[in-house]
Amino acid sequence: MTDREVRSVVSRTAGDAEPPPTSFTEEYFDRRYARAPDPWGLASRWYERRKYAITLASLPRERYRACFEPGCSIGELTRLLAPRCDRLLAVDFAEDAVRQARAAVRDLDHVEVRRSTLPAQLPDGPFDLVVVSEILYYLSRDDLDLMLDGLVGLLEAGGDLVAVHWRTTDPRHRYDGHDVHLAIEARGELERLVHHSDEQFVLDVFRRTGAA
Ligand SMILES: C[S@@+](CC[C@H](N)C(=O)[O-])C[C@H]1O[C@@H](n2cnc3c(N)ncnc32)[C@H](O)[C@@H]1O
Repeated sequence: MTDREVRSVVSRTAGDAEPPPTSFTEEYFDRRYARAPDPWGLASRWYERRKYAITLASLPRERYRACFEPGCSIGELTRLLAPRCDRLLAVDFAEDAVRQARAAVRDLDHVEVRRSTLPAQLPDGPFDLVVVSEILYYLSRDDLDLMLDGLVGLLEAGGDLVAVHWRTTDPRHRYDGHDVHLAIEARGELERLVHHSDEQFVLDVFRRTGAA
């Protein structure tokens, strides 16, 4: 990282940018997958491997009954979450991502990959784990609100919501992990258990309050 990038990371604060005016479209992501089957290098980059390792190590419980993973892309994180869950539902709206994710988990009977547009097609709960990785900052403010309402609604009391998002070093202050996690934190029904923040990403684990 250059000195300039370090300075811009340090100067970023949560809440210093706005969500995109409209949510990124399915067509935008279809184009990305048409140009490169793994547009973010999820299967190859150290950033992703390190992020996945920290995400898995941050899950408070060894096993979960039912996990929901929105925006699963090609199924890299899906495969890693699978051994920790009795049942796992992973969704994405990009057809090519769904095809690749299904291939990645074809040997895992307890994992289902569904093509869904979020937040309109959120599944019915309850889930005791939701893992939301690198998707929320693609949503407009209205869709983000609906998504967070929906995710909290399908999480059972005592269930865990894990959010992990990239922090931009862009000095123009694009909406990023800082800002998205601030929006989650603002929800009254969630108690924060874990907070990890470094120069690359921010990760939080929240527990849905109201457990008996
Ligand atoms: C950066 S990738 C996610 C990477 C993956 N969660 C991980 O961390 O390994 C973002 C994914 O979210 C999907 N996505 C974005 N907006 C969506 C929406 N509104 N509904 C469903 N999927 C969406 C995209 O198609 C893309 O595959």
